[in-house]
Amino acid sequence: MDRTFLMIKPDGVQRGLIGEIISRFEKKGLKMTAAKFERIPESRVMEHYTEHVEKPFFPGLKSYITSGPCFLMVWEGKDIVSITRQMIGATNPAEAAPGTIRGDFALEIGMNVIHGSDSNETAEREISIHFSPEEISEYERIDEKFLYE
Ligand code: RTP
Ligand code: MG
Repeated sequence: MDRTFLMIKPDGVQRGLIGEIISRFEKKGLKMTAAKFERIPESRVMEHYTEHVEKPFFPGLKSYITSGPCFLMVWEGKDIVSITRQMIGATNPAEAAPGTIRGDFALEIGMNVIHGSDSNETAEREISIHFSPEEISEYERIDEKFLYE
């Protein structure tokens, strides 16, 4: 089964959106296999956003991500990376379609509520940055036979 790393950013936490966002993924039929609530240390933010460290927006991104606790998760499901990226919507909430998380709950790129891995390779890399294997719980959802053909 495919896996992804999803993280509700400090604005999503502060605005009370954790439950709403988790609910969308749960109802879709995706399976949460790990979660933690924490203020991410700067070293892990650098590792996570390694592709962006040289970009002009990085200092702002780093101070935003470390400004408060985030809600970090691992989720599992068939084609989960593309499904969750579609549910999250475009990076800039002003361009995100209605019905997507960013389209429904955010206004500006610098505070876009949630992160989702953008490929299977990125997902595995990000999961290993934020979670140890023992923190991930393998189990079957009771409704799986009505979700997968
Ligand atoms: P994410 O990694 O957070 O899921 O977002 P994404 O794939 O849709 O976008 P990405 O290009 O990976 O950018 C990572 C995060 O950096 C911030 N950003 N700010 N001011 C800007 O021009 C700018 N560009 C990107 C956003 O918070 C974005 O989610
Ligand atoms: Mg990204």
